Amino acid sequence: MSNVVTVSLGARSYPIVIEAGVLARTADHLAPLARGRTMAIVTDENVTPHLATLQAALSGAGVASEAIVLPPGETTKSWTHLAGLCDRLLELGVERGDHVVALGGGVIGDLVGFACAILKRGCGFVQVPTTLLAQVDSSVGGKTAINTRAGKNLIGAFHQPALVLIDPSVLDTLPPRELRAGYAEVVKYGLIDDAAFFAWCEAHGPALLAGDAEARHYAIGHAVAAKARIVAADEHETNGTRALLNLGHTFGHALEAEAGFSQALIHGEGVAAGCALAFGFSAAQGLCSAEDAARVAAHFRHVGLPDGLAAAGIAASGARLVDHMRHDKKMAAGTLPFLLARGIGRTYLDKTVDLADVAAFLDAQPQPR
Ligand SMILES: NC(=O)c1ccc[n+]([C@@H]2O[C@H](COP(=O)([O-])OP(=O)(O)OC[C@H]3O[C@@H](n4cnc5c(N)ncnc54)[C@H](O)[C@@H]3O)[C@@H](O)[C@H]2O)c1
Ligand SMILES: [Zn+2]
Repeated sequence: MSNVVTVSLGARSYPIVIEAGVLARTADHLAPLARGRTMAIVTDENVTPHLATLQAALSGAGVASEAIVLPPGETTKSWTHLAGLCDRLLELGVERGDHVVALGGGVIGDLVGFACAILKRGCGFVQVPTTLLAQVDSSVGGKTAINTRAGKNLIGAFHQPALVLIDPSVLDTLPPRELRAGYAEVVKYGLIDDAAFFAWCEAHGPALLAGDAEARHYAIGHAVAAKARIVAADEHETNGTRALLNLGHTFGHALEAEAGFSQALIHGEGVAAGCALAFGFSAAQGLCSAEDAARVAAHFRHVGLPDGLAAAGIAASGARLVDHMRHDKKMAAGTLPFLLARGIGRTYLDKTVDLADVAAFLDAQPQPR
């Protein structure tokens, strides 16, 4: 199984190759980008088995590579690691025409992408995502960033990769909890504008999470095609299309913030609970049917993802959670746009939401026991 999805951005267009085992055949794709020079590969400590596969494939094809292995975890997306990485890439003599390889999850992808956006005013890079979240979301679209004291992803740049290489079989080593969290972002695409894909998730999500290769391949291809379409329509998030990808994220970030952005609630878990809450709120506002909202919550529950405040373990007042939302970077000119739904696959951006209604809705939710 192999397929290629193109992100159409004129001169900055690039292919996304989805193919089980492609890591071992990666030289076919990377040798032309290396042009006989040494390739820098950046990864984290948990991904080193796949680094070995990648480096063996490159050296087998006569491509020299140099690995930079960073500590795993969100804290690696920092000024300190950015500075260290840029210095190291400069020491290696990386030039503008070179392509740095980001091998890892969204943390490595975001950090390396940003380093490459600013290194010599922009050098090339390739995304080789190794988590489900990175394969279906963060590796595509060119958003790069680090975290600072003021919040997550507040310093960054749009910088598109030259190529995205997705090997679904690397997910075999991913902890099940990380796989499930990434799956929430897969379901999100169905909820946004594709009710048939949500129905596919209901039927095949459990098989995907149990390791079914065909289900995994289909879901990644479908998700990536959706993301490519959205990015091509709104590369810099200016016309509202790309904002749809934030479905469940305003509620979700509030829960993540309440959990202190800790392992108590990882991003995809916040997104699952956040999507369920966005549909619950839409139903409470009379925008979508209670049946649709219940169906969304039921699917997340069924695959072991949180379906609301109680399952996410969040005990906080509506006012406190809304306060977290107010600090969201999507806040513009004092109003907070919300992604609401008129039904499954019918998400839209609503700029008229009254935060008092949101707080009252959250206060009415069951609390964790
Ligand atoms: N740029 C974007 O458009 C975008 C979109 C969504 C999320 N993000 C960012 O992505 C980050 C989250 O990404 P993530 O969920 O991939 O987190 P991550 O990169 O921290 O990876 C999760 C964990 O899995 C480990 N890991 C990665 N691949 C593995 C593998 N194949 N086998 C075993 N372990 C493996 C990592 O070491 C880490 O411990 C956040 O910083 C978020 O802001 C960016
Ligand atoms: Zn997300």
